Amino acid sequence: MLLTGTGALLAAAADRRAVPGFVAYNLETAQGIVAAAETSGLPVIVQAGSSAFRHAGMLPLAQLALGLARASDAQVGVHLDHSRSLEEIAACLDLGYSSVMVDGSHLAYEENVALTRSAVERAHDAGAWAEGELAGIAGDEDVSTDAAPAAMTDPGQAADFVSRTGVDALAVAIGNVHGFTARPPRLDLGRCAAVRDATGVPLVLHGASGLGDEVLLACLDLGVAKVNVNAELRRAFLEAVGAALPAAMPLSDLVGPLTAGREAVAAAAVRTTRLLGRAERRGGLVT
Ligand code: 13P
Repeated sequence: MLLTGTGALLAAAADRRAVPGFVAYNLETAQGIVAAAETSGLPVIVQAGSSAFRHAGMLPLAQLALGLARASDAQVGVHLDHSRSLEEIAACLDLGYSSVMVDGSHLAYEENVALTRSAVERAHDAGAWAEGELAGIAGDEDVSTDAAPAAMTDPGQAADFVSRTGVDALAVAIGNVHGFTARPPRLDLGRCAAVRDATGVPLVLHGASGLGDEVLLACLDLGVAKVNVNAELRRAFLEAVGAALPAAMPLSDLVGPLTAGREAVAAAAVRTTRLLGRAERRGGLVT
């Protein structure tokens, strides 16, 4: 079923858990993500967003993600990740997206406030919730570059931003970067707590791939209630497809490698979902 409203996010924040936002590019990655919700019994968010639309096209990928979410018995949100365009946001809301992220971090502050406030109004009118971003998060969305963190979120500015835009969740920049890096970035956890205290909304941690379980769990204690993961699933998919290729020789079996990719995405997503959902509290093992 489609996971609507901020209930799952707020419940996670209150319980020091997080809902994972996993990026989907195609049928198999989206299916693997939905399978993680079904296997773990925990909510997940499929992020079918701007960047992946450039590969798959907006309508095919959006409808695919929504169709899988609606057909599943598990709780699956469908989220537009990193959108700079009000037209794209409106189109996804019309299709039934449960949440959107408006990314005005490239704009001057007042322009970001204005863009984000418009996006929030549209999202709320459509019964969806909205995530905003203040300082940019470095690194490429689709390939892992060895990016260094850029600006950091200022707690005072974050408080002003949240109260003037009405965002339901805020993406923080605390040293996190998109993709894998040679050495895991060091997060400014004190800043995370300060932004939580200043804003009072659930925080979103982008760039979670490669951060390590302990750091992720520390963030959950400091206000992070949604954690975005992409590179980790891309790597799982590609490794599995690569490993399945010899058996597909002489390059005639398409289904075998794609199935291996889907299963690897599901396994990686289950692990992260259970970690962030603190499944060990319920007696489940994070394996
Ligand atoms: P990673 O690629 O580091 O997992 O980041 C994903 C992300 O933040 C998507 O918005």
